[in-house]
Amino acid sequence: MTEDPVLVVDKLTKTFGARTAYSDVTFSVGRGEVFGFLGPNGAGKTTTVRSLGTLITPTSGRATVAGIPLEADNAVEIRKRIAIMTEAPGLYGRLSVTENLQYFVGLYHLSDGARRIKDALEAVNLSDRAKDTCNSLSKGLRQRVGLARTLLNDPEILFLDEPTSGLDPVAARGVHDLISGLRDRGVTIFFTTHRLAEAESLCDRVAILNTTLRTIGKPSELREQLFHKSLVVTTAAPLSDPGRVFTGLPGVESWDSEGSDAGRSTPGRSDAAGSDSGGTAPGSYRLAVGDPAVAAPEVVRALVHAGADVLSVGESRHSLEDVYLSLVNEDVEATQR
Ligand SMILES: Nc1ncnc2c1ncn2[C@@H]1O[C@H](COP(=O)(O)OP(=O)(O)OP(=O)(O)O)[C@@H](O)[C@H]1O
Ligand SMILES: [Mg+2]
Repeated sequence: MTEDPVLVVDKLTKTFGARTAYSDVTFSVGRGEVFGFLGPNGAGKTTTVRSLGTLITPTSGRATVAGIPLEADNAVEIRKRIAIMTEAPGLYGRLSVTENLQYFVGLYHLSDGARRIKDALEAVNLSDRAKDTCNSLSKGLRQRVGLARTLLNDPEILFLDEPTSGLDPVAARGVHDLISGLRDRGVTIFFTTHRLAEAESLCDRVAILNTTLRTIGKPSELREQLFHKSLVVTTAAPLSDPGRVFTGLPGVESWDSEGSDAGRSTPGRSDAAGSDSGGTAPGSYRLAVGDPAVAAPEVVRALVHAGADVLSVGESRHSLEDVYLSLVNEDVEATQR
């Protein structure tokens, strides 16, 4: 259970006829957290966001949003405390940016509208386009107006569905900065994304959804749960007998020759994602180790003793993308069985 949860989701399920959008989803999000919701196309992310944002009613299960039970009678109270940006920003094309925001200030019965609009436009760096009609803006700029709109009511929780989809790298960075700035102000941010590097750098915790919740945790915890720590060793020339060098070394659990068909000395979990940075050098080996700090000096000594020219010995880092691909590929394999 999260400390001071601002969002509690308990066995929530949504079906559309025979189709299950998401099923038996349970998690909680702490106040001020940046929480990333990942998953393949059709995993149920948008439907979850729409459910928690009171736009559609879940089929079963319970949730509390900003301290209020998610029930039809409470929808208005919940919406006062949250903001939601779905895939389409939902703007009036023939109205100017300011007129659009004025419309929403009126809709939400917000006081001090002019100040709110000014602050929101400054936050998304759009003050100079305030008089332009939304039709005349590019997709990314419209996205930013949509974001400005979500800021108008000072939400406790901000739900953003793929906020950086279709944005150029600079504009995406602007959204990242905005999210970080809102986090610093104590706003809880729940966002979906397909950009795993974005989730990795921004999120305190992430959940991976594939109709059911596959995992949840800090990116670093997920990496450790799923992958062995490993060292990647490169030598100027392939070792004539790598098994003799690596097998039985203190701290080395197993080894693999990368980029060739050489075998593994001891059975171990293979890296399901199989990806890693760093290309294949003439001699390249991946060693599963308990503690890289213990194993690395032993490995270097053994290589020198064997007369090898060591090019590098480094800890291999798995990314959140590796975690994601590992889990989602498991699901694909399970459905093919
Ligand atoms: N209104 C609806 N009627 C019927 N099925 C729906 C409806 N909305 C969503 N679905 C189905 O629910 C499933 C989950 O859809 P959802 O849009 O939540 O996925 P997503 O994770 O957001 O995917 P993406 O990454 O493509 O945006 C899909 O199979 C989708 O077709
Ligand atoms: Mg979606």
